[in-house]
This record gives sequence, C-alpha cells and structure tokens, in this order.
Amino acid sequence: MTRKLLVAGNWKLNGSIAMTNDLISAIANGLSNSKNFDVAVFPPFVYLSQASKLVGDKILFGAQTVSEYEKGAYTGEISAVMLKEMGCQMVLVGHSERREYFKESNQDIANKFKAAQAQGLKPILCCGETLEQRNSGVTEQVVAEQINVVIDLVGIDAFKNAVIAYEPIWAIGTGVTASSEQAQEVHAFIRSLLSLKSDTIAPLVPILYGGSVKGSNAQELFSMQDIDGGLIGGASLTAHDFLAICQQADKLS
Ligand code: PGA
Repeated sequence: MTRKLLVAGNWKLNGSIAMTNDLISAIANGLSNSKNFDVAVFPPFVYLSQASKLVGDKILFGAQTVSEYEKGAYTGEISAVMLKEMGCQMVLVGHSERREYFKESNQDIANKFKAAQAQGLKPILCCGETLEQRNSGVTEQVVAEQINVVIDLVGIDAFKNAVIAYEPIWAIGTGVTASSEQAQEVHAFIRSLLSLKSDTIAPLVPILYGGSVKGSNAQELFSMQDIDGGLIGGASLTAHDFLAICQQADKLS
C-alpha cells in the first residue's frame, strides 16, 4: 500500500505577518521540487490570505478549525466556504486543544468534518487519549468513540478524502513522544476500526502521528507500517526544525 507521507505544521496561536513570510518562504526554499511527500501548514486564520500567496505548489495549507455553520448570526466563526475562498485545501478538526479548552464535543467535531468536506476541504480529524485514560486502559475505547461519531454522521466513504491524526494528549508539547511501537499500536487499531466498515477504504486513509515529533524521532515514527507522517506543533515554528522533519519524510518517500 502506498500512502503518501504528509508532514503538517500546526502553528497554533503563534505567528505574525513577518513570521508567516519568513517561515513559509524558508520552507518552500528548503523543499525539493521533486519531493514525493506532502507538506502542509496551518497558520492562524488571519494569516491564511498571506499564506495563500506564499505557498506555491510545494506546500498545502489550511486552517486550524472551522465553523460547523455555513453563514449567519454566529459571531466570531469562520466558515468552510470562506476557507475555500482563501484557497485552503485542508482543515484541522478536533484538535485536543479545541476539545479541552473550547469544549468541542465529538458531535461538534463530526459536524465540522462534514461542513469542511461539503466545501471540498480535506479534514484532518485529530483524536487521542489523556494520560489518565491511557493508564486506565481505555485508549482504544476513547479513540474509537472519537472516530465512530464522525463515521456515524458522514459514513465511511467520506474517509476517502480525509486524514486522521492520532495525537496522544500526554505527548503534545511535553517533549515526551509516544514510542514508535506505542504509536504504531494505536495506528493499527485505528486502521482496523476503519476496516470494520470498509476493507477497501481503510488502507487508503493516511494516519498521522502527533506529539513532540522532531527531526530526531521522525524517521523512526514515519517508518512504522501505519504511520503516514506527522502533525507537528512546536517544531513547525522554525524552518530549521520543520525542514529537519521533512528531510526524514523525504528519505522514506
Ligand atoms: P507538538 O504539538 O508537536 O508541539 O507536541 C503537536 C500538536 O498539537 O499538533
């Protein structure tokens, strides 16, 4: 099965006009024209327009969340139609920080996934367990619930045009990375969960790992059978660190 690797940078609440310019230009310059893996950046909303002018054809880009609503009296929201108009190809949905700090439920996230796809945006559905949940042995149950609510709403066919990111919460921004075996185990579980619905779609869905990915651990993680790249937070904020991860993807592509 040949799934293309994807290295995606989630800038979170970081950036400025200057940083957007410098970072995207430096990433574009550092990537080879003939690369055989995908690279995407997810800047804050207000820099998307600027990003669209800088990405060229080597870098995909998108937003970090999207409204489940299309238009109307929803102060502060940004719709999938608007993101599409900005040129976005992708959007993150269900990042654990959205779940935890902004109280997004599995159902909210499923609605966002659906709204994104309705406009032709490819959602990256994030899932993952807390340390407490891992220690009490419910990792698979938690991840299955997070994904099944989406499948129940949109159907398995929708996953032909989606990416899943497994991000154990205890590994995000902590410097603690899941071992490649720990990550692979959950990735294989996620793929088996998708297989229960469709044997043909399950092998096609890219499953990214996220949580303290860096240049020094990317190769080991990305070479696991069911790990198809990474969703990168901290190390996506400098071209040096992000390109170091891209180089590892390049070697494996
Ligand atoms: P991190 O973040 O790489 O800083 O751990 C990953 C993420 O939250 O997507």
